[in-house]
Amino acid sequence: MNCPSLFSPLQIGPYRLEHRVVMAPLTRMRADRASLAPRPLNAEYYGQRATSGGLIIAEASPVMASGYGNPGVPGIYSDAQIRGWQEVVEAVHAKGGFIFLQLWHVGRVSHSSFQPGGALPISASAVAISPELKTMTADRKVTPYETPRALATSEIADVIESFRQAAINALKAGFDGVEIHGANGYLIEQFLQSRTNLRTDQYGGSIENRARFLMEITQAVVGVWGANRVGVRLSPYGIANDSGEADPMPLYSHVIRSLNLLGLAYLHFIEPRSSGAGRAEVNHQNVPSAMVLFRPIWRGVLITAGGFTGESAEAAIAAGHADAIAFGRIFISNPDLPRRLREGWPLTPYNRSTFYGGEESGYTDYPVYGELERA
Ligand code: FNR
Repeated sequence: MNCPSLFSPLQIGPYRLEHRVVMAPLTRMRADRASLAPRPLNAEYYGQRATSGGLIIAEASPVMASGYGNPGVPGIYSDAQIRGWQEVVEAVHAKGGFIFLQLWHVGRVSHSSFQPGGALPISASAVAISPELKTMTADRKVTPYETPRALATSEIADVIESFRQAAINALKAGFDGVEIHGANGYLIEQFLQSRTNLRTDQYGGSIENRARFLMEITQAVVGVWGANRVGVRLSPYGIANDSGEADPMPLYSHVIRSLNLLGLAYLHFIEPRSSGAGRAEVNHQNVPSAMVLFRPIWRGVLITAGGFTGESAEAAIAAGHADAIAFGRIFISNPDLPRRLREGWPLTPYNRSTFYGGEESGYTDYPVYGELERA
């Protein structure tokens, strides 16, 4: 039997990938500040990172106005945003690549200054993020997180409907599929985990009830796209944004078994060793491996991310722990990452100070290999 490698093809839903170097979803906060629509600079960035038969998962995009917690994040709920994304998709398709959009609601990881009418952010329950973690207001003042407002049971259907409408919008924009952001301590995870979900209705209490919000969103999105073009991202054992389930195994085993029944395009993990990678250099030691623990339960394509190098990615695929590896930080600084990994070329280091916000610098000005030498 042929052992798969990072550069062997992979079928994801209806799409045949030519390699398994996936671009991870990466918030870069460079959308148009007024319309929160992607702009030509964003299309250029994604186009630079597209490869024939390669998969890009575009950055997390709020499905509704209350889903924001950061400036300059592109949304997917207005006509201007759909048009902006169309240009991004065209740039990726022009190079023969595939692109999924990540659908997002931050829940309590926000501040009232980002919320419609200055309202409190919403969550599963009124549980604030630890005061040790700080956030920033819309006018860039460092502040503790506020205590969010718990969604009334009657409001939950509206949020699910916003995910469904966003899925329709992504289809209109020409994406190849969508990924539901159920990771990193955002709204869906706030429902999943017992620390942030103290509800007593059908969305709280038992594991089945806490998983209901994710399952209803997933079913709504599948109703738009068909299951084989929908992925779900989870971060069991993650601690980003003050998240974390005391005993993740029963919760996530249930979630993954429930998702198995839908026949999704893929499941996508963030390995706990890199939880919070967007904020600082994180490489937790002696933490469990999501892919190793949950691979035996998941029946479909598995993508995972978190601190991989070309070598460790090859090893994970060869060992059968995952089918594809998503790369975040080194895809930021190496627009030609798949080629560099295949050829064994050196990688350009990334500059963390330009991850979030700004213009071309640290975004579209990273060279492809050999470009500097040729200049
Ligand atoms: C991220 N990450 C992330 N994850 C996600 O699901 N949606 C997102 O929008 C973002 N945004 C984001 C921005 C930045 C600047 C970083 C560094 C990270 C997490 C990312 O997808 C990935 O899982 C981690 O970065 C770990 O992979 P690497 O960077 O170790 O390859």
